[in-house]
Amino acid sequence: MDIKQVINQVNRDDYVWKEDGDLLPQTTATEAIENGLRMLQVQKGQRVLEIGTGSGYSTALLANLVGTSGQVVSVDIDPELTKRANGRLSNYPHVTCVTRDGRTGYELNAPYDRIIAWTTPEYIPNSWKDQLKEDGIIVAPFRVLPIAGCMVTVQLKNVDGKLQGGLVSQEGYIMMTSEPVVNFFGHEIHADVTGTGDHPFWASSEWMKQLHSENWNKKFVQASPESSSFEESGMDIRPYLLGKYPDGFTFAFHPDHGYLIGYSSPEGFALLSYHYENKWMVSDKKHEDVLSSWWNDWVSNGKPSYDQLKPIVVGDRITVTLRGGE
Ligand SMILES: C[S@@+](CC[C@H](N)C(=O)[O-])C[C@H]1O[C@@H](n2cnc3c(N)ncnc32)[C@H](O)[C@@H]1O
Repeated sequence: MDIKQVINQVNRDDYVWKEDGDLLPQTTATEAIENGLRMLQVQKGQRVLEIGTGSGYSTALLANLVGTSGQVVSVDIDPELTKRANGRLSNYPHVTCVTRDGRTGYELNAPYDRIIAWTTPEYIPNSWKDQLKEDGIIVAPFRVLPIAGCMVTVQLKNVDGKLQGGLVSQEGYIMMTSEPVVNFFGHEIHADVTGTGDHPFWASSEWMKQLHSENWNKKFVQASPESSSFEESGMDIRPYLLGKYPDGFTFAFHPDHGYLIGYSSPEGFALLSYHYENKWMVSDKKHEDVLSSWWNDWVSNGKPSYDQLKPIVVGDRITVTLRGGE
């Protein structure tokens, strides 16, 4: 059965709603689940380890994809969630939800044909490598640069005992924790500069790790978006910048103007709105010129997107590079 068929077959409402009628905060958007499952290439009869049970909805989809000749073990750090999911998945005898830190995998049912994580480890856990079959596939989110906002989901294949990078998609998920998650922090947990107040700004760039500039922070907070000459949004150029990691690469959040991506130095910035086309925040011509040159490179390389990124395994970390050495 293919993924679309399974999505049509499983009633999402049976999983994602709490008793009080609110959406369970640990629920993943269906489109993101679909992308992850497509990269996982699950076959009927396979044994799958899922990390991050959450609502149990993705578990139900996996259960249908492997069929009753297969098996799904789903682990979550939160005992309330695994108990809840076991209840809702009781009509799937080939599914077990277990409370466990996903970084240790689940050796009892190993080895697995597939391992999928919906929560981000700091590095590739050894247990995942040890518990994966030869030719098996891992799909998991990783931070691919030491900058906030630089998570993607990658596909890794076990080839002759070594993990090799396959596909990349844009999705990022909450960092793995050692206790049930109570605060659903976003990218700001990796920020290099954070403002104060109820709705603080934050920013992240390599130079900010060495230098603190109150002047930069003030300039950034006071800036307003202007129209840019670019037709796309910052989200479109993101994969190219992740693959290139140009000097001064910056990800930021403005309390009034949202997420921004682009170039900064201690003297200023040129940052594209992440979600809106034609919008940027620029402090001066020098920064504008640098970002424009990145933009022109992206365009002259055919506007590469996530399908042009390749994950590279470096020790226990993942980086991404542009295919074809661009
Ligand atoms: C995005 S949610 C998963 C959503 C789920 N796939 C769904 O369809 O609803 C991420 C889950 O990872 C769990 N989590 C966080 N840290 C973990 C860890 N160290 N081990 C296992 N699960 C963890 C959280 O409790 C949360 O339920």
